[in-house]
Amino acid sequence: MIPQQLIARKRDGHALSRQELEGLLNGYLQGDVGDDQMAAFLMAVYFEGLDDSELETLVDVMLRSGNVLARGRVAGPRVDKHSTGGVGDKVSIVLAPLAAEMGMVVPMMSGRSLGHTGGTLDKLESIPGFRTRVSLERFNTVLDSVGCAMVGQTDEIAPLDRRLYALRDVTATVPSLPLITASIMSKKLAESLDGLVLDVKVGSGAFLSRIEDARRLARAMVGVGRARGLAVTAVLSAMDRPLGMSVGNALEVREAVACLSGEGPDELRDLVVELAGEMALSAGLVLTLEEGRRRAGDVLAGGGALERFRRLVTAQGGTLRYSRDNYGLPVAPITKVVPANRGGLISRIDPRALGYGVIPMGGGRTRQDQDLDPSVGFELCVQVGDRVSRGDPLAIVHGASPDDLFVGARVLEDAVRIADRLAGDPLPLVLERVVSG
Ligand code: URA
Repeated sequence: MIPQQLIARKRDGHALSRQELEGLLNGYLQGDVGDDQMAAFLMAVYFEGLDDSELETLVDVMLRSGNVLARGRVAGPRVDKHSTGGVGDKVSIVLAPLAAEMGMVVPMMSGRSLGHTGGTLDKLESIPGFRTRVSLERFNTVLDSVGCAMVGQTDEIAPLDRRLYALRDVTATVPSLPLITASIMSKKLAESLDGLVLDVKVGSGAFLSRIEDARRLARAMVGVGRARGLAVTAVLSAMDRPLGMSVGNALEVREAVACLSGEGPDELRDLVVELAGEMALSAGLVLTLEEGRRRAGDVLAGGGALERFRRLVTAQGGTLRYSRDNYGLPVAPITKVVPANRGGLISRIDPRALGYGVIPMGGGRTRQDQDLDPSVGFELCVQVGDRVSRGDPLAIVHGASPDDLFVGARVLEDAVRIADRLAGDPLPLVLERVVSG
């Protein structure tokens, strides 16, 4: 195998045979194909795509690059949720303990920030002491005792995806339908699930912003699941605005804990309830989605999910102080309120601008090996459709330095638009669902 020949074939729009693609990917795993060559190949895939058979090979090699989780001792249907990536998306932090409290076993393996989107692992790691890198043994112990565990991909699970994910993040090759499909489905197939719910984001803050592309992505992932006997439901949800009122790691954990406590933004709660309802349906715990939603809403309101979350945090080494305003999460040393420079309607809040905006403040990465400052970010005071007067607060920038506040305020001034009327109707929170079968 000569890697550059295969890269050139893909670059020129040809399909690779199973043997060729396997050779290239395994060569990368073994160190015979370098990061530079793989980055070029990913860019070729970004432009030329993969056909069904190439996609199947990519999923297969990713999955077989590691192990498949054993099912553990705890009884109950194993169900997980994965999002295609959004801004302000802290759903998993609420959903995993909620689903566990509803009777599901949730072996959740999440990712780090990717491009302009945040990552559940980075958010969880803002909880002092919380460990997301644990051995498989520890993962199973937490799962057996708490009913849910939230970790990063262990070395044993789809290591090829882990390496490609990090490379895609810094080479602008994330927004590719087959690469997203293989990345998500290889990890999820390795979790030995009974059911999977995918939150496929639509809108300017999503990797694939147009609804037709999101629908194709949803169908591709559902199809890969179906071919391997996994029941998958995809929910297309709005990402033309950030989800909730905060963007930034510790700020988002704070909002997630508020949601578990029966507070926090309605949209976050509504999406959590929708996805928990879908999980319950795919697990066979309820007969209709309506019943699943109702049960999720009741359990969330009853406080059991918060208690489950407290156990999860402790089991994974973290400490939160629930009686404090910030739960003992890291707090940025300085903040700045950004006021409206005119009166009018909030016509748009650009999620992508806010997602990219936390990166220069240290809340996201430009290189694979960077540590993050968990305390920085944006706390919105307004939502799309709100009416404001000149001088009303639009948002609060949380920063580590005066420079951060300056940069953050500029980002907000561009991201939050005020006009005489809405720029268009905001997308409904849930647009449609795609179900296997
Ligand atoms: N989430 C993943 O796990 N992989 C992607 O490629 C995009 C979102």
